[in-house]
Amino acid sequence: MTLARLHDGSLHVEDVALTEIAARFDTPCYVYSRAALSAAYAGYTEALEGRNALICYAVKANSNLAVLNLFARLGAGFDIVSVGELQRVLAAGGDPAKVVFSGVGKRREEMRVALEAGILCFNVESASELKQLNEVAAVVGMCAPISLRVNPDVDPKTHPYISTGLRSAKFGVAYEEARSLYRQAAELSHLEVKGIDCHIGSQLLDPAPAAEAADKVLALVDGLKSEGIAIEHIDLGGGMGIRYRDEAPLTPDQYLAPLLKVMAGRKERLLFEPGRSLVGNAGLLLTRVEVLKPGVEKNFAVVDAAMNDLARPALYDAWHDILPVAPRNVPGCRYEVVGPVCESGDFLGHDRELALAEGDLLAVMSAGAYGMAMSSNYNSRPRAAEVMVDGAAAHQVRRRETVAELFVAESVLPC
Ligand code: LLP
Repeated sequence: MTLARLHDGSLHVEDVALTEIAARFDTPCYVYSRAALSAAYAGYTEALEGRNALICYAVKANSNLAVLNLFARLGAGFDIVSVGELQRVLAAGGDPAKVVFSGVGKRREEMRVALEAGILCFNVESASELKQLNEVAAVVGMCAPISLRVNPDVDPKTHPYISTGLRSAKFGVAYEEARSLYRQAAELSHLEVKGIDCHIGSQLLDPAPAAEAADKVLALVDGLKSEGIAIEHIDLGGGMGIRYRDEAPLTPDQYLAPLLKVMAGRKERLLFEPGRSLVGNAGLLLTRVEVLKPGVEKNFAVVDAAMNDLARPALYDAWHDILPVAPRNVPGCRYEVVGPVCESGDFLGHDRELALAEGDLLAVMSAGAYGMAMSSNYNSRPRAAEVMVDGAAAHQVRRRETVAELFVAESVLPC
């Protein structure tokens, strides 16, 4: 499904013109489509039809309350990595009994809050965390449901910054140690072994490494069973990639098929933690050209969105399609599309063929995942507004920050 379509010479998301959104809410502005979010979710539910499975949306990809609320209403659970994310899920109407808590460095206070909220499972990533969680649970007189996040030492073949399943990564417990850690967990009085978990990386375009990891996880599950340690659910993490440029797009069906084959005939409940593939292509970043700067070597189009709004190009050299909102029928030239931030790494796209005039609107595509969620206030730039389109209606789901809000928590020395 293509998020933005040309209609009467201008790009629309569902039935709303991006020009109208810019006029009402100003730029830079993130724009999401309710229909695209729902369709992405349906892709998973259809692929998992008839299975005992739970989709736990990875909140970190896009944590706007309207997005979380939409997934909660569709029946999703959530994968969180902080109590901040838990609070967002609860504020958005999410069910704590469908929440899994991942992350290598949970604070004790976070463990307590999540435990008392009644989450489904803690995805534990170290021997120390097991011990700490047991202690916290003892203090509050509860039993903490746990999975161990196992590092299967599989190369997911993706960008090194978002590859997590290799032995060299900080994530998870080593495959060889998992069995003895499960034995320890089973003996700790305030822990209850519920499941097993693994997540090997993000933006995966080949399902084979995930299936290989699942195979290894299953071998462990069977080994544990023979020792009397029962595993109720198997969490295979997130990671399915999306099309940014010319990647071969995978459907959840295609991505999950090899995994489901490995799981055929199993009784355990299956959990997945998709983030990017549910929201990435359901959102764009709308920005306006402030200044055109022709140069000897390069032409610059300076736009009002920057690396603080969308960090992915600067951080990973990621490619996002950049489309004119009202395409001009004249020859274009090649532009460096850059933001106003004082860093040479502040770019949204290199060497893009565009026909532009100052004041034109541009849509930076595939920005629904790890866009707003990773934005910052660098250069004291208020964060962008967020708008959710639903048919012919555009709802502002987060207003633009004000500059005063940026330093409201700060103070100066008394003298
Ligand atoms: N589960 C765990 C434990 C994770 O660490 C992640 C992502 C997910 C699920 C969701 O993975 P997804 O389905 O979105 O691939 N900022 C980077 C991506 C970082 C991913 C971190 N972990 C980017 O913009 O590409």
